Amino acid sequence: MLFSTEPKDSIEDLFDREREVEKLKNSLKERMTLILGPRRIGKSSLVLSTLNSLGVNFIFVDVRRAYDDVSRKVPAERLYEEMRSSLLRLSKRERVKDIIGRLNVSLEYPVGARIPIEEIKNNILKIFETLNDIGGAIVVFDEAQYLRYSTVGLRPVLAHVYDYMDGITTILTGSEVGLLHDFVGVDDPDSELYGRYHSSIELKPLDREKSREFLRRGFGELGIDVDEGVLERAVSELDGIIGWLVYFGKLYADRGEEALEDVRSMGARLLRKELDEVFSRSPYYAHIMKAIATLGRARWKNVLNYVAAQVGRASNVTVSRNLRNLIKMGFVEKDGDEYLIADPIVRYAMLEGY
Ligand SMILES: Nc1ncnc2c1ncn2[C@@H]1O[C@H](COP(=O)(O)OP(=O)(O)OP(=O)(O)O)[C@@H](O)[C@H]1O
Ligand SMILES: [Mg+2]
Repeated sequence: MLFSTEPKDSIEDLFDREREVEKLKNSLKERMTLILGPRRIGKSSLVLSTLNSLGVNFIFVDVRRAYDDVSRKVPAERLYEEMRSSLLRLSKRERVKDIIGRLNVSLEYPVGARIPIEEIKNNILKIFETLNDIGGAIVVFDEAQYLRYSTVGLRPVLAHVYDYMDGITTILTGSEVGLLHDFVGVDDPDSELYGRYHSSIELKPLDREKSREFLRRGFGELGIDVDEGVLERAVSELDGIIGWLVYFGKLYADRGEEALEDVRSMGARLLRKELDEVFSRSPYYAHIMKAIATLGRARWKNVLNYVAAQVGRASNVTVSRNLRNLIKMGFVEKDGDEYLIADPIVRYAMLEGY
């Protein structure tokens, strides 16, 4: 079902992306692969569908789910818990049934127990070792940029895995592309992963033709006839971001013509938590985003002036540092010497909500 809002996990349900699937299959020969692309573009779907189609052993760790909004950290216990539960899912498969048995660690900790970080780190390493021993596996860290906030330093663990466990292939996905690059630190001599080769696959929005086809096919599955004009408007407003196209398709099936309005307003509401979390990190982020949303495309000087008008004095250095972070997080794009917000619903959310 094309309009299901869960990440697709079967290649039959995956629209387009043949090239990326091939690329991902090929890159499994490498030790480490990065899957990069903005939010709701289909990173998790690509990975899950491809790996399921291959019938290989893999564990899929959702790092975002381990992130704690209050402490703004990924507590070691929660990361470990995510790894553990993905391991349990894997162990349901016949071939790897004894995997838990061979894991010579207590996998379960009492809720709320305080376990020394070192012990958790060792247990995480043991999970990797066991997977390596059973003939290898693919370990996916979804939304891996959150690993930056992990209380157990995972980078040295990944470097160790890279160097010594050649059965393990690591896949890191990231919607905050710059931040994921920072975490991996391939160009940073201080990073434990410095100089390690990785392949990367970048996911782009669907072009107009593909977006149209996606919607037509989705509505076809539901047996719904949609006016060409409605399709055209949705295609031009949603900019090929598959997650929003899905959302539109679902809403249209429920409420018809108003769906596009509803994608905007409900999408903006959905984004609220995400944006508030970002904005709580710096008071400048919201002003900068608002400036760019309002201007559509903004030059550096426009942004600076806008922010200065909002907060009184704003130093070049501060605005420029904050703008750079927003680019790293993927909220703002730079095109020539102009800045813009690529996601149309984020732009709308900024105009309406902040
Ligand atoms: N190739 C595809 N074919 C059909 N549906 C897709 C495809 N890619 C993504 N989708 C749908 O789009 C939505 C977003 O996809 P997915 O969760 O995989 O994206 P993501 O990049 O991992 O997003 P996030 O940043 O939110 O984790 C889901 O509803 C998913 O089912
Ligand atoms: Mg995802």
